[in-house]
Amino acid sequence: MPEKKQTLETLREWISLSSRIVFFGGAGTSTESQIPDFRSATGLYQTESRQVYSPEEMLSRSFFFTHPEDFYTFYKTKMLYPDAKPNLAHKALAELERRGKLEAVITQNIDGLHQSGGSKRVLELHGSVHRNGCLSCGAGYTLAELLAIQGTVPRCKNCGGLIKPDVVLYEEQLDSDILHQSVNAIRQADMLIVGGTSLTVNPAAGLVQYYRGSRLVLINQTETAYDRFAQLVIRDPIGETLGQAVWGDGVKL
Ligand SMILES: NC(=O)c1ccc[n+]([C@@H]2O[C@H](COP(=O)([O-])OP(=O)(O)OC[C@H]3O[C@@H](n4cnc5c(N)ncnc54)[C@H](O)[C@@H]3O)[C@@H](O)[C@H]2O)c1
Ligand SMILES: [Zn+2]
Repeated sequence: MPEKKQTLETLREWISLSSRIVFFGGAGTSTESQIPDFRSATGLYQTESRQVYSPEEMLSRSFFFTHPEDFYTFYKTKMLYPDAKPNLAHKALAELERRGKLEAVITQNIDGLHQSGGSKRVLELHGSVHRNGCLSCGAGYTLAELLAIQGTVPRCKNCGGLIKPDVVLYEEQLDSDILHQSVNAIRQADMLIVGGTSLTVNPAAGLVQYYRGSRLVLINQTETAYDRFAQLVIRDPIGETLGQAVWGDGVKL
């Protein structure tokens, strides 16, 4: 295994040498935007609620249909952060795309912050809270429109049908087109930056295995099962790290 040089210098150097960078991230990419990651959300839920359901259960397709009230109560309070702003990680990745260095951002997040940070090619493996659709007539709703509807369970203004967020729930398949595009982007990448993901949720986490190059960078505050495959492991906050790698010291947008 190549030597691990845990320095920002190496990250900068590899970025300068690469032209087909792919970023693959998860909830940790958005914690610096004050959106808790999955574990924190789970912790919050467990301490605050006396519900008997686990978050995984409540975020499942069957639960959505059998307990829409409980689903939407959990979803609206724990999954939606309509006022969150992109952080340095989102902005640095958008800048790399503008410079012609980055091919795609692949994310497990559903918060839309890569797009609001300026990224154009974003592959959303788990969908987005910003798209919502009526299951009866297909009418589409933005997040703001969904939240403006009275009542816990949003019903369609046209037909009264149940509205479902376009997020991939447990028991649901990932969109195969998005998955294929992600595999292709990773296969063709000359550098893969993986960040802010515990790499525990499959099939998303397994995508890392498609990378064939020798610049695999893992930026995560805690250890992951893939650390030993990476040529560079950085345990610092991802926004700060990518911000410094792209703009140098002292840059805060
Ligand atoms: N923002 C969102 O859209 C959001 C939020 C919570 C959960 N989720 C969903 O939950 C699932 C959880 O899987 P996951 O792997 O994405 O998240 P996860 O919570 O399992 O793991 C997050 C990882 O990021 C690390 N981390 C947290 N903040 C960091 C920072 N500032 N810098 C570097 N590392 C940091 C943590 O140590 C952890 O290992 C995903 O499927 C995702 O769709 C999404
Ligand atoms: Zn409708």
